[in-house]
Amino acid sequence: MTIVKEKILAPLPGNYNLENYDEIRRTFTWEDASSELFWKAGKVNAAYATVDRHVDEGYGDKIALHYANGDERRSLTFREVKEKTDHYARVLKKHGVKKGDRVFVFLPKTPECYIAILSVIKIGAIAGPLFEAFMEEAVKDRINDCSGTLLITDRELGKRVPREEIPSLQTVLYDDEIEAEDVEAVPGEELTEWVGPEDGMLIHYTSGSTGKPKGVLHAHRAVSHHYVSGKWVLDVKDDDVYWCTSHPGWVTGSVYGLFAPWLNRATVIIQGGRFKAEDWYRLIEEFGVTIWYSAPTAFRMLLSKGDALKQFDLSSLRHILSVGEPLNPEVIHWAWNELGVRIHDTWWMTETGGHLIVNLPAEPIKPGSMGRPFPGITVGILDENGQELPRGEVGQLAIRTPWAGLMKEIWGNKDRFDAYFKYEGWYLSGDLAYQDEDDYVFFQSRDDDMINSSGERIGPFEVESKLIEHPAVAEAGVIGKPDPVRGEIVKAFITLRPGFRESAELLEDIRVFVKQGLAAHAAPREIEVMEELPKTVISGKILRRELKALEAKRAEESSVATGN
Ligand code: PRX
Repeated sequence: MTIVKEKILAPLPGNYNLENYDEIRRTFTWEDASSELFWKAGKVNAAYATVDRHVDEGYGDKIALHYANGDERRSLTFREVKEKTDHYARVLKKHGVKKGDRVFVFLPKTPECYIAILSVIKIGAIAGPLFEAFMEEAVKDRINDCSGTLLITDRELGKRVPREEIPSLQTVLYDDEIEAEDVEAVPGEELTEWVGPEDGMLIHYTSGSTGKPKGVLHAHRAVSHHYVSGKWVLDVKDDDVYWCTSHPGWVTGSVYGLFAPWLNRATVIIQGGRFKAEDWYRLIEEFGVTIWYSAPTAFRMLLSKGDALKQFDLSSLRHILSVGEPLNPEVIHWAWNELGVRIHDTWWMTETGGHLIVNLPAEPIKPGSMGRPFPGITVGILDENGQELPRGEVGQLAIRTPWAGLMKEIWGNKDRFDAYFKYEGWYLSGDLAYQDEDDYVFFQSRDDDMINSSGERIGPFEVESKLIEHPAVAEAGVIGKPDPVRGEIVKAFITLRPGFRESAELLEDIRVFVKQGLAAHAAPREIEVMEELPKTVISGKILRRELKALEAKRAEESSVATGN
């Protein structure tokens, strides 16, 4: 294997929250990370720690959020966020929500989405945030999986909730109804439920390569991980304006859009609406964003817009971070040349609950690497027997257990949970990587069939299952096809049922069928009709591996033909 050694980027001068990585790595313990801040006689509440604590500590008047959507602008202080969260919490209690209940939040990226999530956690229930682009099937599968009892939504998204197919769902509350509900604070009321570190806080659904999405349950103890990674990796300080572009329906949008920045008392930007390069740059200029967390696909889109950024003053930006998919060195060099700052890659997963491999602002970056282990984290590169491989060799990326943010369980599925821990003492990520002599970790690929399109994790099985519900589709095999902007796109290979003939209209109809059933990001951007799909001889299982090999061969042939 040839390893291209990219030029190392030195840190910019500055005062960073973590100045001495080597020393902290030697002394760090998860117990020390936040103990004096959040834990009261062994009890904690993540919502209290995230917002209410700041009000109690005298920061109630500080701006907690600026909301921007088109021309609409709203700002709320920490006190206002707390009071609104309390109101939501009272309404939930009035509707009978109890500790441990699963309450889903299906809202666009608005302040109310953040507030609804916090209100659920405040009363000790488990919040299940849903991505705003989910369609009926995706919504139904998730709520059914963990028997959600209540859903907070709005009039628009609420149309995509097939209530009669979700038997556990007793109540649907619209955000405008909650706002209008008359629930008075009673003297001496205690809305905050003080819970133990292992009590459930948040459930995020994520794709696997087989079967339906899995419900990754996080416990309140994760708050220590959110706090300390927010402090050291995001490098949040009191005067920062922080913007994470992800929706809280994804783990990045909840952990690093809501919890980590607010635990560190940052002012956050909540931006609604779709991606448009000019709008994004305008937002940075208007609010003086200092810390910006996004994904390689977005950076690549911005890069391809060339000079769009020249019209804006982006000099407030002092720290940029990236997550979700491999960050090309080219993108890092673009930011370095155009914005004068580095992009700091971070690696983690829904299941890990927080950053595990990071580039810290005071440390050198090796473009092409995801960075080094977070303090308290030990990386192992394992062979197929679970033995550690020497530095430089590619193997299975694993992490020594435990750490504060690590998931507590996969809802109702012990086998799927145990599969992550098949090597004693390790969490197995499903990624392949190597680690160099300086501890930097380099991502190679997934070790399974998972698709990563624009940083969104898509399970091929879910898409295949939807495809074969279409009357024209007999069989389907779905893979990720490499794409210069999105990392990968979803590509489906299908065979048609007798009586159907391939046409552009039919393929579009199939694509729209998946889009409307599941979600836009899961719909295949390419559909190819085949006579037959490659299958295993014995079990007749569709061989995604061969479909991938076919695409790789074609890509190679076309690059030879064009001389690229
Ligand atoms: O394959 C890795 C990729 O995203 C997967 C986790 O996906 P998800 O749970 O949706 O979480 C995304 C953000 C927390 C990983 O197994 N991934 C994540 N970060 C990186 C990455 N691949 C390359 N470089 C990264 N920095």
